[in-house]
Amino acid sequence: MGTRKKIAIIGGDGIGPEVIREAKLLLDVYRDKGGLPLDLWELDLGADRYLRDGITFPKEIQIAVQRECAAVLLGALGDPRVPNLEHARDILFGMRFGFDLYANIRPVKALHDRLVPLKERGAADVNFVVFRENTEGIYVGMGGQFKRGTPDEVAINEDLNTRKGVERIIRAAFEYAKAHGHTKVAMADKSNAMRHAHELWYRVFHDLARSYPGIEARHVYVDALCLYLVQDPSQFQVIVTNNLFGDIVTDLGAAFQGGLGMAASANVHASEPTRVAMFEPVHGSAPPLAGKNIANPSAAMLTVGMMLAHLGWPEEERRIERWITQAIEARACTVDVGGKLGTREAGAWVREHIAAEL
Ligand code: NAD
Ligand code: IPM
Ligand code: MN
Repeated sequence: MGTRKKIAIIGGDGIGPEVIREAKLLLDVYRDKGGLPLDLWELDLGADRYLRDGITFPKEIQIAVQRECAAVLLGALGDPRVPNLEHARDILFGMRFGFDLYANIRPVKALHDRLVPLKERGAADVNFVVFRENTEGIYVGMGGQFKRGTPDEVAINEDLNTRKGVERIIRAAFEYAKAHGHTKVAMADKSNAMRHAHELWYRVFHDLARSYPGIEARHVYVDALCLYLVQDPSQFQVIVTNNLFGDIVTDLGAAFQGGLGMAASANVHASEPTRVAMFEPVHGSAPPLAGKNIANPSAAMLTVGMMLAHLGWPEEERRIERWITQAIEARACTVDVGGKLGTREAGAWVREHIAAEL
């Protein structure tokens, strides 16, 4: 890899290419004006490519990405023309599972009071991070269908949880809390109903908590977590949970941030951070918004911030966040967050202010 950092860029489907265009232009500024040693490698993968020539995520690309790249920046996958989402699973899970990126880190931080929809709550109340397990759970695709299409049909998805998998994500959450001076980690499961799989989570959480005496370890059932989050999100600093619950809870979290246009995420192998990592907004391909220049590019640009911090430039994450906050304040943003700008114009506003500072 040398001292240069190669970044693979996949726009993907729907609004993915539109928001990633703004993210890439921001990376161009960092490379050309900011002097960051970045090599950007755009990959033509997604529904169009799949429908054109059947290609999803070829082995040779996977190997090249793992060998040569420090990071992948992904837009979103999901296209109504591919109803079973075959290509999306190959690409998205090809990276999350294939690269063993077990920690899906999703910060839930509101950048402006205006964006918080909860009564009598503001941005100061919304600042926590969700550690979502990213390589196990119900997402592994184990199971099957039997007697499909008949009145007797059976459909099964197994929920796979390993000691190793549960332990490493919970440890990652505690380590993150420790490194960031947080004093509270909450673990959300459903161990009252899922006696086998989630009892493992419950036990491992309490075992590991003993190694972090300065951190309050709180167990919450995930249904109650949703209640507490809406009542008072400020009581949470770090939340760790399984793959499916993490998916759901972070869309709820995105609502506190002003919507999915504001929510960023990282997929990392937390104990070997030099492995290739993948960065993507929490949102999907939002087909109804696609091609209209209305999607909010903030989540994609905040995701660039997470990626630059991961690559060793944490001050750039703060800079990007600060300028997006300014944009929201000045209403130089898209309609979903109270502005009048299009995707391209909102991206340009942030980019030009950052360029002027570099
Ligand atoms: P979605 O995230 O695409 O959209 C949910 C809601 O948020 C919609 O109202 C949408 O308009 C809004 N929204 C999303 N991103 C926005 C943005 N940048 N700016 C403004 N508004 C935004 O979720 P969905 O509609 O459930 O799924 C659409 C497709 O995306 C499906 O195929 C789904 O499987 C896929 N998906 C992919 C990913 C991913 O690639 N990581 C994540 C979620 C969903
Ligand atoms: C996400 C998405 C994906 C997930 C889908 C597209 C499979 O919702 O990244 O949040 O469930 O992980
Ligand atoms: Mn999701």
